[in-house]
Amino acid sequence: MKNGSGSAPGKIILMGEHSVVYGKLAIALPFFSVGVKCTVLPIKGEIELESICYQGILTHAPEPVSGLKKLIEVTLDFLNKEHKDIRILIESTIPPQRGLGSSAAVSVALVRGLFDAFEADLSFDTLNNLVSVAESIHHTNPSGLDAITILNERFVSFEKDKGIEFFNASLKGYLVVADSGHQGQTKLSVQSVEQKLKTHPKETVALIDQLGDLADHSKDCISQGDMKKLGTQMTKAHFLLKDLGVSDVHLDQLVDAAHLAGALGAKLTGGGRGGCIIALCGSMVDAKKISDALIHKGAEQTWLYHLREVVTHG
Ligand code: MEV
Repeated sequence: MKNGSGSAPGKIILMGEHSVVYGKLAIALPFFSVGVKCTVLPIKGEIELESICYQGILTHAPEPVSGLKKLIEVTLDFLNKEHKDIRILIESTIPPQRGLGSSAAVSVALVRGLFDAFEADLSFDTLNNLVSVAESIHHTNPSGLDAITILNERFVSFEKDKGIEFFNASLKGYLVVADSGHQGQTKLSVQSVEQKLKTHPKETVALIDQLGDLADHSKDCISQGDMKKLGTQMTKAHFLLKDLGVSDVHLDQLVDAAHLAGALGAKLTGGGRGGCIIALCGSMVDAKKISDALIHKGAEQTWLYHLREVVTHG
């Protein structure tokens, strides 16, 4: 065994969060401004984990770390290695529970780090299968979108039953990503939609269908490079997500502030009920103006993300 390392970026869901769980189209992209690095070191004794959530012996880790713990065990089993003699260090610049793919990125970086440490070849399918173990513990019924976006590091459109499609986006513009500073819990938010489907089936199915249609239209806007139309679809999606019950007052305020500052469109991104919003605009000058307005409105942090970065990496 040697010192191993693995890394992974964050992700941004442009359109289709929540409705993707019910088989509708979603569009997402890797977010290279943030990321996770995992380092695996040989030691003697029980497995030690050092991360922002937990530092200590892995077998003593508390419930919130259970997905990670399971993933380490399953990966070591896959590699045919004993559950001992390693120290795992996880460093991340992805704020956790903000809808930016922190848990999936940690999983991807971890599996890459372990395979690197044991000098084993890692196929795409193996990585995908291993990561889905942790994702299904983190949130009961994951669509797989987070992991797929992070694994592929490309602009993707995804439908659960149809699979992934990559596209070379011709978008010239920026996304301003703003962290509300409030944690959102994807698991609870996904469960709340599930519950709403039971209590208000007709209304909820209609919202999910409309979110799916907006994602379909957005795909055309992206292919045609039509930023203005894309912005309009994004804003419509935010209000549907709000009706679905997955927004909150902070996210709504940030979306309003983004519009007032000249965004072409804005919406929450990811699981919601806390977390981040994204705002679309055409120039760096507009992005800075929107970012200032969002900070003024209470955003904890913002990132200006040139959409060209995604194409360059793809
Ligand atoms: C979470 O990043 C996205 C959701 O659509 C859940 C999922 O796709 O599994 C809310």
